Amino acid sequence: MEKFLLLLVLAGGCHAFLPPTETKCDANQDTSPCSPVVGGSVCIKLLNNATNYKLICSKDDLPFMSCNRGNLDIVEAYKNRTKFFIGTGTLKITNVERSDTGQYKVERYNPDGQRESNIVFSLQVKEDIFFILVIACFALGAVLLIVLVVCCICRKKQRTESKGSQAKAVDEIGF
Ligand SMILES: *[C@@H]1O[C@H](CO)[C@@H](O)[C@H](O)[C@H]1NC(C)=O
Ligand SMILES: *[C@@H]1O[C@H](CO)[C@@H](O)[C@H](O)[C@H]1NC(C)=O
Repeated sequence: MEKFLLLLVLAGGCHAFLPPTETKCDANQDTSPCSPVVGGSVCIKLLNNATNYKLICSKDDLPFMSCNRGNLDIVEAYKNRTKFFIGTGTLKITNVERSDTGQYKVERYNPDGQRESNIVFSLQVKEDIFFILVIACFALGAVLLIVLVVCCICRKKQRTESKGSQAKAVDEIGF
């Protein structure tokens, strides 16, 4: 139990300083949806090397990124938080939002310009449970601390106050 509490405190302390949770997925191997957390980041491997490929990436049938033999084009709404690593064929979205949940499709043209099968994957964004847990623990800790402090103050008062001042307290309550 003590170990668990210590771990929780350490983990909670670290969480504030560590970079946001990063989720890694492989569009060609994973069968379950890719589940990044809100505010975290997600790396999705689309193919091994996109250097000589042309790719058009869409979410729910709306294109947001294209990469044509090394020329990258990302729509304005995604620019700030989307990267594509051409050499490793990996798409990275940072600062994941709930609205990123959806079906993704990547049209792919090989170095000969021939269309190959689409790469498809889905994102299922979830809440950062760990973060919620840490907040809940802090809240609980704060409440316990307040209760403790109040108890201490009450005890001290009881000890130091004489019977005379107790009568005064009664007067105060009456007032
Ligand atoms: C992207 O970042 C720039 C500079 O920080 C900001 O002015 C712009 O509004 C941002 N665009 C979006 C779509 O968030
Ligand atoms: C990707 O392919 C290009 C050209 O074929 C090559 O120059 C580059 O080193 C490759 N990148 C990686 C990470 O293998």
